[in-house]
Amino acid sequence: MRTDQAQPVRLSEYRVANHSVTTVALDVALDPTATRVNARIDVVPHPQGVAGAPLVFDGDDLVLVSLSVDGVALPPEGFEATPERLTIFNPPARAFALEIETRINPEANTQLMGLYRSSGTFCTQCEAEGFRRITYFPDRPDVLAVYTTRIEADRALAPVLLGNGNLVETGDLEDNRHFAVWHDPHPKPSYLFALVGGDLAHVEDHFTTRSGREVVLRIYVEHGKEGRCAYAMDALKRSMRWDEEVFGCEYDLDIFMIVAVGDFNMGAMENKGLNIFNDKYVLALPDTATDQDFAQIEAIIAHEYFHNWTGNRITCRDWFQLCLKEGLTVFRDQEFTSDMRSRAVKRIADVRLLKSAQFSEDAGPLAHPVRPEIYKEINNFYTPTVYEKGAEVIRVLKVLIGAEAFKTGLDLYLKRHDGDAATVEDFIACFAEASGRDLTQFFLWYRQSGTPDVSVETHHDAVEGTFTLDIRQSLRPTPGQSMKEPMVIPLAIGLLGEDGVDRPLLTDDGQQVAGVVALNAERHRFTFSGHPTRPVLSINRGFSAPIRLKTDLRREDLAFLARHDSDAYNRWQAMQTLATQYLTDASEAVRSGGASPAPDILLEAMRAALAGSEQDPAFAAQVLTLPSEADIAREIGTNVDPSAIFAARRALRTALAQSLGDSLSGLIERLAPTSSYSPDAISAGRRALANVALDLLAAAGDAERLAAVARRFHAADNMTDRLAALAVLVQHQGSDREDALATFEERFRTDPLILDKWLALQAGIPEAGTLDRVRALMSRPGFHATNPNRLRSLVGSFASLNPTQFNRIDGQGYDFLAEVVIGLDTRNPQVAARLLGAFKSWRALEPARRAKAEAALKRVSETDGLSPDVRDIVDRSLA
Ligand code: PHE
Ligand code: ZN
Repeated sequence: MRTDQAQPVRLSEYRVANHSVTTVALDVALDPTATRVNARIDVVPHPQGVAGAPLVFDGDDLVLVSLSVDGVALPPEGFEATPERLTIFNPPARAFALEIETRINPEANTQLMGLYRSSGTFCTQCEAEGFRRITYFPDRPDVLAVYTTRIEADRALAPVLLGNGNLVETGDLEDNRHFAVWHDPHPKPSYLFALVGGDLAHVEDHFTTRSGREVVLRIYVEHGKEGRCAYAMDALKRSMRWDEEVFGCEYDLDIFMIVAVGDFNMGAMENKGLNIFNDKYVLALPDTATDQDFAQIEAIIAHEYFHNWTGNRITCRDWFQLCLKEGLTVFRDQEFTSDMRSRAVKRIADVRLLKSAQFSEDAGPLAHPVRPEIYKEINNFYTPTVYEKGAEVIRVLKVLIGAEAFKTGLDLYLKRHDGDAATVEDFIACFAEASGRDLTQFFLWYRQSGTPDVSVETHHDAVEGTFTLDIRQSLRPTPGQSMKEPMVIPLAIGLLGEDGVDRPLLTDDGQQVAGVVALNAERHRFTFSGHPTRPVLSINRGFSAPIRLKTDLRREDLAFLARHDSDAYNRWQAMQTLATQYLTDASEAVRSGGASPAPDILLEAMRAALAGSEQDPAFAAQVLTLPSEADIAREIGTNVDPSAIFAARRALRTALAQSLGDSLSGLIERLAPTSSYSPDAISAGRRALANVALDLLAAAGDAERLAAVARRFHAADNMTDRLAALAVLVQHQGSDREDALATFEERFRTDPLILDKWLALQAGIPEAGTLDRVRALMSRPGFHATNPNRLRSLVGSFASLNPTQFNRIDGQGYDFLAEVVIGLDTRNPQVAARLLGAFKSWRALEPARRAKAEAALKRVSETDGLSPDVRDIVDRSLA
């Protein structure tokens, strides 16, 4: 067992492995409790390694059965094998073949890393360090080898046997056993290894690549679920075509497989030719999945497929370079979705996620750079910073050097580094070359953690006809980084005239400039001429830089931008800013017992947005969605009182329901579907708008309106509308929510993925009884407290989507989370550590809650035998 005394790993200490591996032949005899693994590993001393160094391979929980070098068993004094390490003291100073036999127990593997079983299916998860739980190996991403995998099993237990690459042989054995041999010609790191054995059904399709390669596409699922794969298959084919057309990336094997499993720590995994997915991101039918599920499936199928080039063909030198594959692949999947759906709506959704998940991380004790320089547990670095900010930084680069140079740089990267284990420096060098620019300062986006603050003051001189921007940037200290340097920050801007139209951007000497100003120092002044009247500034259009922005725009200006800005993203942002400002003021008023400010301007802006909403329903749905409680808390920043925020937000929603009620009902009627359900973006947008309107309309708790919501719930012919109606009902005491919950449960009793939605809704009820409800749901016989999806739906939703109840003033919400984390840690440390991350904003709370949160964290910290995963999170949270 690993202990929590992990030593930190540092980027500055990177060294090549002393021994590299050219080929791996694995022979795995699957057995539920005693799987035999024979590995033949061709080893060569690395020319840049330490000559004559002992051979040291990683292990985790391994039992060695036998060991030989070039066919000769090693004498006991020649090596040492512990569960964590295999050391050969005097390995040959030339190429040699190592044969290692290990025995592993998939059934007992509750961490879901290495070889484990999910509903009887054998499957593997090797990223980041799971391969070492299968055999001893230099389990690091810069050791690339060609793998051949032979799998054998009882035919009844595992009629389907899958591996990486292409299938080369199958056959029968004695005693009802059979085998399959898979060969992957592309050298890869061990984290991309996978195998699957089980009794699975599949659906099949085909794809012809642009150079004529015929590829078999298969999705493997539990029997009976074949009918839920069509959408995922279609998304896969669209991803493959799109990657050829937009990035010039073509698939490189004869078969591409996806296997859906019910027990999975993350979303999905890009193993070469054999992606393994959390079944939540594969299975979908109109009656089982919401529009949001369909969109997520499309995005994650694309993401994992795109890794085939950005991640697999070009992999990472070490785990510090994680953003090299993840940030870039998120960037690529965001572009894909933008092309498949609405670019503006996708941008808004991405920024919402960035701000809620990443800005909050950057503002708290778990902040780290996009490329960390030190870690204790790599599993804790699959974060919004690496993924989402990692993608943002690439977007910043694109804005800075322009689309053309960006494309040249990316093409160069894909060509130059194909087959490499690369670094972020390698990547950036391609863009420096393509653009002819020095990107040294840009690199700070990878090195400095924290969200830059940018403030803008404007000055209009009517006599001179000039409009001046005084811009300042600053970056607060973050863990391990007290001093910061100014960053290069590109801000897309526009200046709107009274007619709402963009005016030409002219410098003070009359030169027309493009719509981006770039900061590279702490302060900048930009003066624009030709403005006899004061223009309205639209800045950081499209969220061109991931910053926290303060401007001196007045509320009237924001309302004006919300109506007229030619940049759709900024129309949305203007409304959000208006609402956020109002809600921060109003929650302060709640707290001090003062009078809430009048929401007139906001109400009028919302009314105007509602009036034009049918032109672009998906966009309007975003505009009409108020900032979340967490958004407001983040804006307030310190001494946060979640109850006051909740009260202010609820009061605003009530006011909106009262003043916009008739328009909202009219809109809902006009958006009623005229044809049967289709998950396409246009139809989804109409449903989204109708459901946002429904939620607002019911906000005042009016009994008649809630009854109408209940009727909608019962009449719904698809999961999107059914769940949206249920979500409204559960938010209101006194509605017939218990009836509706029971109806839902009865109908979907046998479908855990659907019940997850039902669990999440209940965990989110903003009432004092919710904690007891969550505890009761957890102890029901059907609740599998070890399944990551169940835990995330119930406990994860409670801790991160229910601010008033997780942050109960009596501290019981915190105690509950601590208790779950401690209990789970011995079984699944990765998921336990992730759940504990819900404390990431604890220092921003008001003193009473802060003290309670700290006490709960300390209780976790004082627990004996913590995993390195939880130890790392709790230590950093308390530091
Ligand atoms: N590499 C996966 C992805 O982003 C995520 C993952 C990480 C899955 C670690 C499992 C374990 O596509
Ligand atoms: Zn990824």
